[in-house]
Amino acid sequence: MLLHLKQVLTADELREARATLAAADWVDGAATAGAQAVQAKHNEQLPQGSAAAQGLQALVLRALHRNALFFSAALPKKIFNPLFNRYGASGQHYGRHVDGAVMHSRATGERVRSDLSCTLFLAEPGEYEGGELVVEHSFGQQRIKLPAGDMLLYPGSSVHEVSPVTAGTRLASFFWVESMVRSESQRSLLYQMDMSLMQLRAEHGESDATLQLTGTYHNLLRMWADT
Ligand code: NI
Repeated sequence: MLLHLKQVLTADELREARATLAAADWVDGAATAGAQAVQAKHNEQLPQGSAAAQGLQALVLRALHRNALFFSAALPKKIFNPLFNRYGASGQHYGRHVDGAVMHSRATGERVRSDLSCTLFLAEPGEYEGGELVVEHSFGQQRIKLPAGDMLLYPGSSVHEVSPVTAGTRLASFFWVESMVRSESQRSLLYQMDMSLMQLRAEHGESDATLQLTGTYHNLLRMWADT
């Protein structure tokens, strides 16, 4: 499942994040890539332990924690400390690659299984050319470029790339989520059911049937969740 979450950051948060990124010191992204990915990775990244990165991590995590759709879709157990990258107009890109199954955070020492990958766009689509996030999945290939402040959730297992940036600068935050529900198909069923329940409530209010279905949702979650 590919899911577009709109306005994960408020306008104020986005402004704050952009100002911090503009003033920050960046390093070569290859420093943090695994053996397969390092060949493909041509971008810049904020050092994880820097004051700028820590402030922005807290900002992104706050935004995620208040986002009910993110919670419903990802059912997060652990969230990797958000990282930040920048692709400049010299054709910087990140060629086709797969993310490692277990990501080790240098900042926290924590290991996070990458059930879901997340990209939070921090530059407006009109600010750069190229730089699409290209995700390959069972239905083919999708090229994605979202408004600043919006986020894409996609399966951690997918082959993906960031196409070369030919003008302007692409800024994003990226991180991984280990879900309480490891199976993508089970997670998708729960998300669809939760969305349908929200719609039923909005259209018809509370009823015995929605109460019963809510119970079924939680019984499935209880059966599948690992906390
Ligand atoms: Ni990746």
